[in-house]
Amino acid sequence: MTAEHRGGPGEPGDTRLSDDRAGREAPAGPAAELEVHAGAGSDEQIPGEELDGTGAAAADGRRRVLIRRRTIAALLGAGAAGAAVAAALVGTVGRGRSGASGGAEAHVLGRLGSLPPDRGVLIALGAHGDRARTVAGLRGLYTAASSLDGLTEFSLGLGASFFDAVELAGRRPRSLTVMPDFPGDLLDPATTHGDVLLYVAAPTAGQAEAGERALRAVVPDWAPRWRVLMRRDDNHMAYGRPISRNGLGYAEGLGNPATSAQLADAALVAPGDGEPDWAVGGSYQVVRRIRLATERWNDHRQTDRDRIIGRRPDGTWLDGRPADSRPDFTADPLGRTTPLDAHVRLANPAAEHGTPAPLVRRSYSSADPSDGHGLVFVCYQRSLANGFTAVQHRLAGEALADYLLTTGGGYWFTPRPDPSWLDQLFA
Ligand code: HEM
Repeated sequence: MTAEHRGGPGEPGDTRLSDDRAGREAPAGPAAELEVHAGAGSDEQIPGEELDGTGAAAADGRRRVLIRRRTIAALLGAGAAGAAVAAALVGTVGRGRSGASGGAEAHVLGRLGSLPPDRGVLIALGAHGDRARTVAGLRGLYTAASSLDGLTEFSLGLGASFFDAVELAGRRPRSLTVMPDFPGDLLDPATTHGDVLLYVAAPTAGQAEAGERALRAVVPDWAPRWRVLMRRDDNHMAYGRPISRNGLGYAEGLGNPATSAQLADAALVAPGDGEPDWAVGGSYQVVRRIRLATERWNDHRQTDRDRIIGRRPDGTWLDGRPADSRPDFTADPLGRTTPLDAHVRLANPAAEHGTPAPLVRRSYSSADPSDGHGLVFVCYQRSLANGFTAVQHRLAGEALADYLLTTGGGYWFTPRPDPSWLDQLFA
């Protein structure tokens, strides 16, 4: 998808709207000349509208698109929207300790509550068109994964285009589509989508890349579409959850489900979900490559930044409650303590009832300078509609949106860890 203007009223090209938030001026200069793809989601109603009962949140979200052009201009200046194409990956198989606990035990879906390794790499590939060769390649990937170093974590995701390539569109997980553009996205085709997504993570970048080479050697004719090296800063377990520090300086992971029952309920397709049999035990995987406008962010006082997120950097809530508790937003209906458009408040309105949002986030920071060290947001969910899509629509009205630009990623379906699904899918 190229950057093109498809804006209607209230969208990027509509100069009738002015930014009346915080007295900011409408963008000028290079930003005004940028063509922004408003996205297919632009016409959809934003579920956050009912927040104040007047639709003001949605109107505000649309106005925001204007401000974001300034962010976009700044980010494009610093990075390279068209760059970051996958590096050429060659090499022989770098085997880890044979017999170590690779394979199913190393599969991310069996480890959702465990600490992800510090370094990771995502590689989006084009699968081979021939079905028999594709199946052989997938089997080979599982075999190679079982020989990976025991400290390595991996997964394999199938994009909507994969099912077209192998002529099995009828067996696609029922809500797996190509990731749409959401309002404000500026998706770069060079960093978006792909038939198959491999994820390999390990304690060091060298180990992760050795794992990557081992897997890539199995499918040398699957062309790399894009690739990103990632890292989790301050990666540790706290309150029973994996926590890291994102590029804006905030602890991330605190609101994730914690118990294995909650994790499975949020992330794993269950029998009776109406999904094909082969998909049971798998998960919808969403990746969003998000650049951060850190300079603009750092221009704000700490307290203002905290109000945009809705927590302090260490996770403490703005009403002073500890990070591992749940806030009482009902005591703050007008958003005086935690603004109504704070990230956490929109991301999970049910948080005050102790209910985690129905998705499991396992994000990394990008180690790729062309991403401006942004966030590689990764989440797993049992239902896209209840998980990522619902949350993302609510976040269209968030204050944080002014500091983010999503330039890539996609939707994949990660089948269950053991390869028995292959026999069911290709039966
Ligand atoms: C650069 C982009 C983002 C940043 C910097 C960011 C940052 C944060 C932070 C600091 C928290 C609070 C700590 C925590 O619970 O982990 C949080 C919570 C959360 N975020 Fe994000 N986030 C980003 C993007 C997203 C996206 C794209 C989604 C999903 C569409 C999302 C969904 C959530 C959810 C569900 C929570 C938990 C809310 C709760 O239950 O309290 N975030 N995020």
